[in-house]
Amino acid sequence: MAIIKNLNLGPIGIFDSGYGGLTVLSEIKKLMPQYDFIYLGDNARAPYGNRSYELVYEFTLQAVKWFFQQGCHIVILACNTASSKALRDIQQKYLPDVNSNKRVLGVIRPTAEAITKLTKTGHVAVLGTENTIQSKSYEKEIEKLNPDLQLTSEACPMWVPIVENKEYDKPGADYFVKQHLDNLLSKDEKIDTIILGCTHYPLLLQKIIQYTPKNISIISQDTYVAESLRDYLYRHPEMDLLCSKNARRRYCTTESAEKFGDLASLFLKESIEVEKINLDKK
Ligand code: DGL
Repeated sequence: MAIIKNLNLGPIGIFDSGYGGLTVLSEIKKLMPQYDFIYLGDNARAPYGNRSYELVYEFTLQAVKWFFQQGCHIVILACNTASSKALRDIQQKYLPDVNSNKRVLGVIRPTAEAITKLTKTGHVAVLGTENTIQSKSYEKEIEKLNPDLQLTSEACPMWVPIVENKEYDKPGADYFVKQHLDNLLSKDEKIDTIILGCTHYPLLLQKIIQYTPKNISIISQDTYVAESLRDYLYRHPEMDLLCSKNARRRYCTTESAEKFGDLASLFLKESIEVEKINLDKK
């Protein structure tokens, strides 16, 4: 038997442009409480949803490099925009030159897998940021899993700013939630399952349910991403061995720590300590 020693164990990194990835971290913590995690929200530069490919790639790569400097071996891009725009190039162009023990995973594949199993009519839908919808990432993943499914999509550019500005439970949010759901549902009346393809959207869930017919299921991706990470570590024990397990959490933001802590506690339903870090310093 091979003797493994001097392993540099590290936390799992969870990244989002802002607060949305906390919905994913919340579920991951429930499922894998013993693991250590570092969360980073690039709040100073959020939202990423309508930024160019080049910027989303550059910002996401800076974040991934920062996580590796903190000792992470696995980084989850808990952001559909970063997953759809930057993940492939990070995996194919950046990681091969770095270190064979580093992994960067996204949220689109596990969500696409879930929806292919849940629909009965074969007509599904995704709501996301401009970038996620334009990238057609969900179409591409679903096509690989079940080419017979029909996917309809709708970009909801106002939803992330509504959440980031704490307006998600205010009456003003109703207008934009209803508008995009009406648009989406008018495109295909057979839709029976809708994916919330943005990690910010679970905060709008109550309003989304309110404006969606009862016979349509709404899929929030956080639980599927958490299950998929647990499954990944089970299938890759060599990566699991590299994850430290002392139930430690570190929360970081590129903007004001105080502001982040305030809103993050609403996502996490607990108060947290937050560090401000700089990403753009080379
Ligand atoms: N939570 C991110 C996502 O899942 C939000 C993107 C943004 O910053 O616009 O897409």
